[in-house]
Amino acid sequence: MEQTVKINSKITLKPSRIGKKYYVKTFGCQMNEHDSERISGLFELDGMKKAESEDNADILFVNTCTIRENADDKLYGTLGHLKKWKLESDNRKLLVGGCAAQKDKNLVRDKAPWVDVVIGTHNLTNVINLLNQSEDWGPVTEIIDEIENLPTDAPSIRESEFSAWLTIQIGCNNSCTFCIVPSVRGPEISRRPSDIINEAKQLVSEGVKEITLLGQNVNSYGRDLKIDNKSRPYFAQLLEQLNNIPDLERIRFTSPHPKDFKKETIFAVKELSKVCNQIHVPLQSGSSNILSKMHRGYNKEKFIEKIDMIRSIIPDVSLTTDIIVGFPGETDEDFIDTMDIVNYSEFDSVYMFKFSPRPGTVAFNMNQEFVEKKVIDNRFQLLKDTQTDISERRLKRFVGTEQLLLIEKLSKKNNQIYSGKIDSGQITHIDKGDLNLGDFVNVNIVDSTPFYLKAEQI
Ligand code: SAH
Ligand code: SF4
Ligand code: F3S
Repeated sequence: MEQTVKINSKITLKPSRIGKKYYVKTFGCQMNEHDSERISGLFELDGMKKAESEDNADILFVNTCTIRENADDKLYGTLGHLKKWKLESDNRKLLVGGCAAQKDKNLVRDKAPWVDVVIGTHNLTNVINLLNQSEDWGPVTEIIDEIENLPTDAPSIRESEFSAWLTIQIGCNNSCTFCIVPSVRGPEISRRPSDIINEAKQLVSEGVKEITLLGQNVNSYGRDLKIDNKSRPYFAQLLEQLNNIPDLERIRFTSPHPKDFKKETIFAVKELSKVCNQIHVPLQSGSSNILSKMHRGYNKEKFIEKIDMIRSIIPDVSLTTDIIVGFPGETDEDFIDTMDIVNYSEFDSVYMFKFSPRPGTVAFNMNQEFVEKKVIDNRFQLLKDTQTDISERRLKRFVGTEQLLLIEKLSKKNNQIYSGKIDSGQITHIDKGDLNLGDFVNVNIVDSTPFYLKAEQI
């Protein structure tokens, strides 16, 4: 009898590559990391096992990002290196997927003809079929404009046993003028609450303790789910339902959009015991003029109102943000506005980016107003130095406090040290001692740097 395998997914396959080894190389954000877990799941459904590195893999999947220009450069650099890998054996297959593939389509194989399969972001669940086609008929490119199956239909092989991503929404309906995401990830689609809750329960039954909800704009979750004039589900309600799942310990989420931030969500963070004490509020710029050109839907004053509202409800919450330096037309005064908000908001950490023009976006055509590279570099450095001081001050507040730490992984630099996170999301190091991965431990925070905390077991 032919063997078919169904690993906790809606997809059934007849395994055809038993004994082969795969490796997935991932660039970009959490969405891509999670998609890579799904690709791994499909590969295992097909009979393959994970290789330790690309060197001993038969099948290599490169999951690409295109958020900034250097992500594209990195991709073609990587594919250049992988030509040698591919040519070392006739049996090797090289697959390229993700956001850069979705954007570049046939260009990927024009630039790197040794690639066997190019697959977009909307048809990820078709990966085994395309791999088969490439073996039968030669190289294949399949990029489609609309979602075929939700990636969540595929099984998932997670990096971590204890922490899991959980997609609540795919795509994005906003039109931030700098951003390529809507064009490579498509329109916003929310998953039904019951699907999300079922997946969360399944994850918990597999030993997961912490889930991180994923969406490009989680605050707008559910606005496409209004059926027959019935009321739609809201993000805060979803958090409440997830909070009721027994044995789930922690819930995090990323990213909310400041313009859609509701009081209810802040109260959910405050009152629901499992929802962690951290909020990411992506500022992008502190200048009302630039925010308007970015099409962000809020101005400087509105952003400050949101920060004040959050802090008045949860004074000790950890806030983080994203900032773009050097958006077209950004003047010294605009940049000072950004620095003002950074000084005012006291973020625990800031993810900073230099503006990068992305083809197809509105800002790409603002080339008359592009800011000189030297000016961007100087502003970036100033922002970085200022924020490092703020982060140092912010993280010091934990020293001398007692915290609950989830042990997540071995430190990359020292195999005697574990790294994990406290409730409010700060990376925390602790001596390995007799601790185990997945332990929740009560710790004293004994020291801090601008980037992480040091803890001792109580
Ligand atoms: N949906 C999220 C952002 C996802 S992209 C949100 O709205 O917050 C992650 C971050 O990359 C953005 O917040 C932005 O700071 C940065 N980014 C996106 N496009 C960029 C570009 N063209 N140049 C520089 N940074 C960019
Ligand atoms: Fe991009 Fe804006 Fe959508 Fe975020 S909200 S993914 S920045 S378009
Ligand atoms: Fe993420 Fe990069 Fe795509 S940031 S959504 S992997 S363009």
